[in-house]
Amino acid sequence: MDVRIAVLASGTGSNLQALLDDPHVGPSIVLVVSNRPKALALDRARAAGVKAVPLDPAHYESREAHDRALRAVLEEEGVELILNAGYMRILTPVVVGAFEGRWLNVHPSLLPAFPGAHPVRDALEWGAKVTGVTVHFVDEEVDHGPIVVQECVAVLPGDDEASLHSRIQEVEHRVYPRAARLLAEGRLKVEGRRVHVLGEEDRP
Ligand code: GRF
Repeated sequence: MDVRIAVLASGTGSNLQALLDDPHVGPSIVLVVSNRPKALALDRARAAGVKAVPLDPAHYESREAHDRALRAVLEEEGVELILNAGYMRILTPVVVGAFEGRWLNVHPSLLPAFPGAHPVRDALEWGAKVTGVTVHFVDEEVDHGPIVVQECVAVLPGDDEASLHSRIQEVEHRVYPRAARLLAEGRLKVEGRRVHVLGEEDRP
């Protein structure tokens, strides 16, 4: 696929790894950025020969200043599409506006249930019987943009946060690369809050 993709990640980067390992998406990933300079995700990028850039918010005077720097890094690399993979930072219009419609996030719940930083814990504490995975477009609100794909994961009686999150991540690792491929192939059409996946017959 002739497209330049950046991945933003804050943590261990297992979703990043699933994207790097995908034969369609992986070769198009040209940049990984993390707000945590020691994130394992940056090591995974380096191991894959992908440019890894730490952007520590502590070095910037405001959220907007950080996001201007992020936007500059993305533009310098000629990035066309962005994939958040466990990126635990709220973004401002400074950067979101520049890439709207070209930016996905993966979230470990069935949005709009359980947005925010602790969706797996929140689902357990709420007593939900079913939770899951959402891949959605990024817009200027947190965990809010149009939904590309969702898949359910059952909450089992003996689950704790770790066991449930581990089953959710298995699903993430399968569905996120597929959704990313659809975006990269130009097959996602957004109409209001609805996302249509264009089939072969609809493709331009
Ligand atoms: C994932 O479950 C993602 O949905 C959430 O944070 C987790 C990141 O995991 N936002 P990893 O860094 O990809 O392993």
